[in-house]
Amino acid sequence: MTDVFIYAKRLFSIIFISTLIGCQPKAEEVIFKGPVVIGTWNVPEATTEAYQVLASGGSAIDAVEAGCRLEEANEQGQSVGKGGLPDRDGQVTLDACIMDSKGNSGAVVYLKDVVHAVSVARKVMEETPHVMLAGAGAKQFAIEQGFPVENLLTERSKADWGKWNETSFYKPIINIENHDTIGMLAIDENGDLSGACTTSGLAYKMAGRVGDSPIIGAGLYVDNKVGAATATGLGEEIVKNVGSFLIVELMRQGKSPQEACEIAVQRIVDRSGDRIKDFQVGFIALNKKGEYGSFAIHPGFSITKHDVSGNENIPSPSYN
Ligand code: GLY
Repeated sequence: MTDVFIYAKRLFSIIFISTLIGCQPKAEEVIFKGPVVIGTWNVPEATTEAYQVLASGGSAIDAVEAGCRLEEANEQGQSVGKGGLPDRDGQVTLDACIMDSKGNSGAVVYLKDVVHAVSVARKVMEETPHVMLAGAGAKQFAIEQGFPVENLLTERSKADWGKWNETSFYKPIINIENHDTIGMLAIDENGDLSGACTTSGLAYKMAGRVGDSPIIGAGLYVDNKVGAATATGLGEEIVKNVGSFLIVELMRQGKSPQEACEIAVQRIVDRSGDRIKDFQVGFIALNKKGEYGSFAIHPGFSITKHDVSGNENIPSPSYN
C-alpha cells in the first residue's frame, strides 16, 4: 500500500512538473512581431520604399535593395549615389555591399559612373563566383549586366569640390548633413533577415580610398540565426574594429541589439582615446525577434524604423 502511495505521489509530481515546464516559454523561443526595416539616419522615403516591399509579402533582400536604391537616385544627398561628393581629384566613386539570409554576400568598391551600386553588389552576389569587384572591373561587370553609365558628379557637388579645392584642407566632418552612408536592415514576414549598405564615401578622400561600407563584417553583417548590424561614420575606425560582425556576435551571446551597439561603440572609444572628438561612428542592429537598437559616439545620429505601427525617425542615444 505504502509503495503504491509513494509511486502515485512520484507520478503526480512528474506530471505536475512537466506541465509547469510545458507552460514556460522556452529560453530560445523567438517571438516575432512582423516585418520591420531600419535605416541609418533620417531616411523616411527609403524605409517607406523598403516597407512596401515587406508589407506586400516581399523578401528582406528585395526590401533593403529597394530602400538603398531610392537614396542612391536622390541627387540631393551628397554622400550616397548620384550627387555624392567626389574624391580630391573630382571623381565620384561608390562603395556598397549586400548580404542575404543564406549568408551570401556581394560588394563593389571604387565603382564609377553607375548610380545603383547596391544593385551591382547584388548582381556580384547572385551572378558571379566572387564576393567583391573593384574599380574598372566592377564598372565593366555593371555594364555587362545592363546598368546604364552616367556622370555622377552633379553641378552642386562639382561647385562644392571647386570651393574645397581653394584650400584642399582635409578633415572628415562629423554628422555631415545628418545623412551619411545608408545602411538598411530588414526582417520579412518569413522571419528572414537581410541587409545592405551604400555610400560615396568620405568627401575629398584620396583617390582609391575605400571605407567600411563595402566590407562584409565592418559596414554590414547578417546572420539569419541571430540578427544583423550596419554602420555609418568614419569607415577607417569601423574597419579597424570590425564593428558590424562584433555586434552580431554580441547578439549571439545574448545581448540585445541596443546593448550590442553600445558595447561596439565603447570598444572604439576605448581604443581611440582623445581622437574620438574628431570622428563619428554610429551603429544600428536588428535581431531575429524584430527588436532593434542604435548607438553612436556623438549626438546627432538617428535611426529610421518602419514596422506595422508606422514610419518613425528616432534620435540615437550616444556615448557623448
Ligand atoms: N562610412 C562610410 C565611409 O567611411 O566611407
